[in-house]
Amino acid sequence: MRWWEERVVPRLVQASLRGEELAPHRDRACAQLSGAVLELGFGSGLNLAHCPPGIVRIDAVEPSDLAWRLSQDRRAATSVPVTRVGLDGQRVDADDATYDAVLSTFTFCTIPDPMRALSEVRRVLRPGGALFFLEHGLAPTATVRRWQRRCEPVQRRVAGGCHLTRDLPDLVTAADFDITDLEQGYLPGPRLTRPFTYCSAGRAVVRTG
Ligand SMILES: C[S@@+](CC[C@H](N)C(=O)[O-])C[C@H]1O[C@@H](n2cnc3c(N)ncnc32)[C@H](O)[C@@H]1O
Repeated sequence: MRWWEERVVPRLVQASLRGEELAPHRDRACAQLSGAVLELGFGSGLNLAHCPPGIVRIDAVEPSDLAWRLSQDRRAATSVPVTRVGLDGQRVDADDATYDAVLSTFTFCTIPDPMRALSEVRRVLRPGGALFFLEHGLAPTATVRRWQRRCEPVQRRVAGGCHLTRDLPDLVTAADFDITDLEQGYLPGPRLTRPFTYCSAGRAVVRTG
């Protein structure tokens, strides 16, 4: 399966996530980014076109060399400096309180230990900084959840470890963040796709006190 994960999955991910239907969601996820930004699971750089002015730099965490190569043209087209600073969101090579914002889109489903990654996000965020997320995950509808549980073992094998049943808002709250904005719902599409399309988008800040 190594060749599949290294040579095929990054292309499949790029093809499935670059659709225009996601553009307004990416716009919203990126709208409040500013200063020094850490992006977890940078992928092929699909968020770059949605980044507002005011970002000083983007530090990218991305394990896949192919995804990083696929992002080359998008990186070349932006004026914001983008540097690949690491391979794993569970261990970010940065000092405490380095970033004004952390961005994650469709990545927490894949990180093996999301709580560990969230504790890294807490550590590297500056006081007043925020985590912005756009993630698919556990649906509220019982029948959809049943299909998510059925499909998850196959999804994990074919889609680079992607889970269908993670509830990111729950995980974020359990990791001592307060969620300040949250929008949830199914992306448009046939009912059959619902196990894959329930999304949570929002902003979270480190809980104080
Ligand atoms: C479904 S893709 C999303 C890519 C991009 N964020 C987007 O919205 O198009 C998930 C990304 O997370 C990356 N990833 C997997 N494990 C990771 C980890 N432990 N830390 C950081 N990123 C990881 C994958 O290589 C992949 O590029």
